[in-house]
Amino acid sequence: MMQRLVELLAWLGLFPGLVFGALDPVDTTIVETVLRMENFDLRSSEKATAAVGRYLDAKKGSEDYFKLIERFVIKDRVPELLGIIQVNPASTEGIAALNLVLQLDEASLEKGLQDPALAPALKKGLGIIKHPGYGPAVTPVVEVPPAQAVPVPEIAHLLKKTGDVGLGRKVYAKLCAVCHLPSTVKIDFGPNLSEIGSKLPKAELYTAIFDPSAGVSFGFEGWQLTMKSGAQFTGLITSETDAAVSLVMIGGVKLPLKKADIAGRVMMKQSLMPPGLHQAMREDELVALVEYLASMKKKG
Ligand code: HEC
Repeated sequence: MMQRLVELLAWLGLFPGLVFGALDPVDTTIVETVLRMENFDLRSSEKATAAVGRYLDAKKGSEDYFKLIERFVIKDRVPELLGIIQVNPASTEGIAALNLVLQLDEASLEKGLQDPALAPALKKGLGIIKHPGYGPAVTPVVEVPPAQAVPVPEIAHLLKKTGDVGLGRKVYAKLCAVCHLPSTVKIDFGPNLSEIGSKLPKAELYTAIFDPSAGVSFGFEGWQLTMKSGAQFTGLITSETDAAVSLVMIGGVKLPLKKADIAGRVMMKQSLMPPGLHQAMREDELVALVEYLASMKKKG
């Protein structure tokens, strides 16, 4: 169980980027224009259809790639979308692709779930996008041990101990850096902890680990958005315009969601940080982790 938690957290940190091919500037101009035209029917223009096709080929996985497929309901690209999910289900591209497949062609998704080559990736993606229709068919993103498995240690007892900062840094890299800065994976999901030692005393650092929902940091409240397609996204809202909401999900998956597609949203009472992470370490590791956090102080 613990091993699995660690593996999952590690796996969340891997997102190889996509490489884009060369593209004719004329095609880019055509695409930008048709995206801006409100009621443009792509099928009415062969030239535009061809330009969009070349653009999609060259910019596979980009934000505009997904925008175009959604806007013009280009169902021929569903197999390609499934391919993107297969390569990297827990990435921004993978989740954007899965969101589109849910909207455009659920039958292909159901078929994919029967395909042994595709099913594991689809289930991973469905662990990030929750959809009531696919409840049992998901792989959880972060598997947290059951709450009572290890009793919460006494903070007063822990405060009497001193830990090894070097060991603490290692524990942090394994369990915390997937969501927090400082981090080598550069995922900015939870609050930046680079100066946390100046903000919270050790007792509160322990509480933050044992029971994240006890005090959710301002501006880091989780939201659950339910889409008209039935899909549910959980994450932080990083920005919002009249037309769209940008959401960042666990693992750093970023998604712009059109407001027109959103059926409702609720702010979560629970923290987006999983509870019980202390169960993934020994007591000396926990003490070391808090020693390391306490050592990260404001400079000057
Ligand atoms: C899945 C992502 C995730 C993981 C893994 C995670 N955190 Fe968090 N953490 C968050 C989020 C989101 C918040 C902000 C919400 C809150 O305060 O509960 C947060 C808040 C905190 C805070 C409070 C910060 C403040 O400024 O008040 C501390 C301290 C913290 N985390 C420490 C840790 C430590 C230590 C670990 C590793 C054992 C860890 N976190 C693992 C997501 C995560």
